[in-house]
Amino acid sequence: MHISSLDTPALLVDLDKTEANLDRAANYVRSHGLLLRPHTKTHKSPLIARMQLDRGAAGLTVAKVGEAEVIARDGVPNLLLAYPVWGDAKWHRLVEVAKRLPVTVALDSAEAASGLSRHAQRAGITLGILVEADLGMRRCGLPPGEGLVRLAQAISAMGGLRLEGLMFYPGHINLAAEAGEQQLETLRSELRAVIESFRTSGLPTDVVSGGSTPTLFQSHTIEGITEIRPGTYVFNDRTQVAAGACTWQDCAVTVLVTVVSTPRPDAAVIDGGSKTFTSDPLRPGGDGCFGRVVEMPSARFHKMNEEHGLLDLREHAGPPPRIGQRLRIIPNHVCVTVNMHETARGLRGETVQQSWPVAGRGKLQ
Ligand SMILES: Cc1ncc(COP(=O)(O)O)c(C=O)c1O
Repeated sequence: MHISSLDTPALLVDLDKTEANLDRAANYVRSHGLLLRPHTKTHKSPLIARMQLDRGAAGLTVAKVGEAEVIARDGVPNLLLAYPVWGDAKWHRLVEVAKRLPVTVALDSAEAASGLSRHAQRAGITLGILVEADLGMRRCGLPPGEGLVRLAQAISAMGGLRLEGLMFYPGHINLAAEAGEQQLETLRSELRAVIESFRTSGLPTDVVSGGSTPTLFQSHTIEGITEIRPGTYVFNDRTQVAAGACTWQDCAVTVLVTVVSTPRPDAAVIDGGSKTFTSDPLRPGGDGCFGRVVEMPSARFHKMNEEHGLLDLREHAGPPPRIGQRLRIIPNHVCVTVNMHETARGLRGETVQQSWPVAGRGKLQ
């Protein structure tokens, strides 16, 4: 099928670019002796997960139990749930997943650990646990220090759990920003100290799980790290370009839209708004735009309603867009954009080679 036969808005995945992104990361981890447990939150699809595993990924990462249920297909070696999952309903479902394949959970409280311990023991299984350290992100995770060691010691004594090591997320580090290298250096020294405190306390550091897309190719400079969990690297987006993590050429996902109105000479309306792209701004800083129009990069995609996207054409020098014209847009934040779409279309050039359901979309519980 040719791309022109697709109705819009449509989520397009350039398969050549996707494969190149996956190969680059797979080659990198192989050459540095690291493991890759990619975060599947970006693609939410068993099909892309299979492409990651075929290139040597050691396992897969999810945030939600619902995602775990979708991703845990035959042949998946293990799952890391990198989220402090809470509550009997979720612990019960997670244990059901863990009966089919090894599951590790990253968490930062004895309360969450003891809930999991109870459910795991009742089911007669063992769950792996990573304790989450906060190395600058200021989201979840305990700061380096005694509290972290005490939590790890408490978990070591809980039935049904096997402490495997540590997890951290360096999501605060943007290496294109002035502060980026300093933040990375601080993280290196904090991680060194945390690993040392675990070793001197006899706690395991078999798994030290880190990684993000902006820091992906710096992971080998972080001593002690054993595996990384980038997610966005598979597709990339406008934010990753701004962070210096990739180029426009590496952006594998675009949203195909149609111009539905040209009400003023300096404006065009496309058939996708916040229910197609989400309202995520460009991070960090923000430039007031919601995506890059591939065919006319100087058009500013500056405003959205739910189903309308407004292009400001004042700086656009070429021919104005026509009603019915198709445009492709690189979103600000690809992970949340993918989550808005039921179906992804895999392209080779202009040919739609395959379509697949975004099976994990909306799996928020
Ligand atoms: C815990 C955790 N690990 C890994 C990732 C992947 O990071 P990135 O989106 O930079 O690839 C995320 C992203 O949100 C995350 O929250």
